[in-house]
Amino acid sequence: MTLTAPPTPASGTGEAVLSLAGIHKRFGAVQALTDVSLTVRAGEVVALVGDNGAGKSTLVKVISGVYQPDAGTIEFESRPVVVGGPAGAQELGIATVFQDLALCDNLDVVANLFLGKEHRRGPLLDEVSMEQEAWRLLRTLSAKIPSVRIPVASLSGGQRQTVAIARSLVGDPRVVLLDEPTAALGVAQTAEVLNLVERLRDHGLGVILVSHNMADVQAVADRIVVLRLGRNAAEFRTEEATTDQLVAAITGASDNVVAQRAARRTEERG
Ligand SMILES: Nc1ncnc2c1ncn2[C@@H]1O[C@H](COP(=O)(O)OP(=O)(O)OP(=O)(O)O)[C@@H](O)[C@H]1O
Ligand SMILES: [Mg+2]
Repeated sequence: MTLTAPPTPASGTGEAVLSLAGIHKRFGAVQALTDVSLTVRAGEVVALVGDNGAGKSTLVKVISGVYQPDAGTIEFESRPVVVGGPAGAQELGIATVFQDLALCDNLDVVANLFLGKEHRRGPLLDEVSMEQEAWRLLRTLSAKIPSVRIPVASLSGGQRQTVAIARSLVGDPRVVLLDEPTAALGVAQTAEVLNLVERLRDHGLGVILVSHNMADVQAVADRIVVLRLGRNAAEFRTEEATTDQLVAAITGASDNVVAQRAARRTEERG
């Protein structure tokens, strides 16, 4: 990961790096996604929000190649692509930090960062080069990790999240998906992870952030996409959305209020 792309001038003004349209996904009797679209630009943080079961994780898994959509198109850097599987996603430049992080507790930070992508010198591992690259990555993220040679089991929750994010950057991706990165974190650690998210954006990556926490979303996202019952329910520029509006879009309360009003007016007239 080089992170050498010049910082984009203003957030969200880059070109669309990933664009999904008309995505359908069914599991047996459950229609998890119906006609969903989503776009993220270079240098933009898009928050993906919605109630439990709204389809967020399913959409993340479609993007990261874990699931194949039943219908719909995915464009990466303006080219139609098929994300054949997780390895295919990585090859394209789509990196995912899943909620469980999937770190190996007994291994140190360097080993976790380069798991399956080890630098080699002939038959041997090139530990020096990996350690240098590890520090470079962590510095790019302005991450506070005391040592890259301690087992990740001894790191705090925020530091573990940092390692998982740093690891996602090893393949030099253009898009990073983060599924609930702050769900298990305290206040200070959450702030640190949100700083990391901004760092990713500053380096021109497209970031898709799944979160239940409206405060986090409003603190860091440029755009907020709301899913409800597997459909696009609403989309806001962050500065234009109030918490009330977001909650209404997530729960569908706005529909109900509108529907109630309409019904009342019809009654009054009738
Ligand atoms: N592998 C699966 N098999 C069957 N049904 C599934 C599967 N994965 C998801 N679903 C269903 O699809 C719907 C969307 O689930 P999904 O996990 O995408 O929601 P979510 O928005 O991530 O919710 P949460 O906030 O609880 O994580 C749910 O009704 C869920 O039960
Ligand atoms: Mg989920």
